[in-house]
Amino acid sequence: MKLGFIGIGNMGNAILKGYLTANPGSEKAIFAYDKDQDRLKSVSEQTGINACDRVPSVVEKSDIVILAIKPDIFGRVLSEVAVAMDWEKKIIVSIAAGITLNYIYEQCRESAGASGEENFRCKAVRVMPNTPALIGKGMSALTRNEWIRDEEMEKVMAIFRGTGKAEEVDEKLMDCVVGVSGSSPAYVYMFIEALADGAVALGMNRKQAYTFAAQAVAGSAEMVLETGLHPGELKDRVCSPGGTTIEAVASLEMNGFRSAVINAVKTAAEKSMQMTK
Ligand SMILES: NC(=O)c1ccc[n+]([C@@H]2O[C@H](COP(=O)([O-])OP(=O)(O)OC[C@H]3O[C@@H](n4cnc5c(N)ncnc54)[C@H](OP(=O)(O)O)[C@@H]3O)[C@@H](O)[C@H]2O)c1
Repeated sequence: MKLGFIGIGNMGNAILKGYLTANPGSEKAIFAYDKDQDRLKSVSEQTGINACDRVPSVVEKSDIVILAIKPDIFGRVLSEVAVAMDWEKKIIVSIAAGITLNYIYEQCRESAGASGEENFRCKAVRVMPNTPALIGKGMSALTRNEWIRDEEMEKVMAIFRGTGKAEEVDEKLMDCVVGVSGSSPAYVYMFIEALADGAVALGMNRKQAYTFAAQAVAGSAEMVLETGLHPGELKDRVCSPGGTTIEAVASLEMNGFRSAVINAVKTAAEKSMQMTK
């Protein structure tokens, strides 16, 4: 399989690194273009992938083309993709926040000069990754349009499994995904910072406080994923009767901890909905 990247910034790079780790020796079957020529040259030198000088060159050579560019230039870049597109065979993968499958379809149809045609087809997958993808611990949600077959979807899913976990969801859940995993690393960092502030208030030095707080969060998350137990059950197991933890849990409840988090997820999803096109 030949893989193409348009945009090789933070996310493009993370996906590329994950793919190369999972598929050693595949660099000669990877083609990339980035407007930032210095970045492209440096990635190409580091990894051995092929640097292309134009968007259409990447599309011509690739079976799957990943668009890892910002949403504001997406429509313009898609029109360059269309120049070299084989609509029956090649797959467009977008990781741009707020760009729907329908938007991709309409833009492709227009760029292909097929605006009036009823039976225009284009194969597209929309993905919402998150920043822990940069260290291979990401969570990506993928959704496909009607022309992507199961075996094609599996190939795209495998690419994103290289950056962490990947699950297929219905497109209507993409705003929810923004709230629960796309934006949530920021809430978790705030929680870690607050835990560490508490420790510093009690006399621990800051460096040690971040290690204790971050490792507690990472370990707890692993417990949820590995044991499959309900988070409430895991919480109950830490709360001894009359002990310290239940006092802290009661204090968090009194201060609206859970409702604050639920509202944060809903607010991020609402904002995502407003920004979607
Ligand atoms: N970072 C996240 O947490 C995150 C999470 C989920 C989804 N996403 C989505 O991922 C996408 C990429 O984000 P990112 O953080 O990887 O951005 P980024 O680091 O800025 O990377 C984008 C790259 O594309 C290049 N570029 C700009 N115009 C181009 C063009 N016409 N053709 C080819 N390359 C072009 C940029 O070059 P210049 O720097 O010279 O412009 C840059 O190297 C965005 O759509 C974002 O919504 C990001």
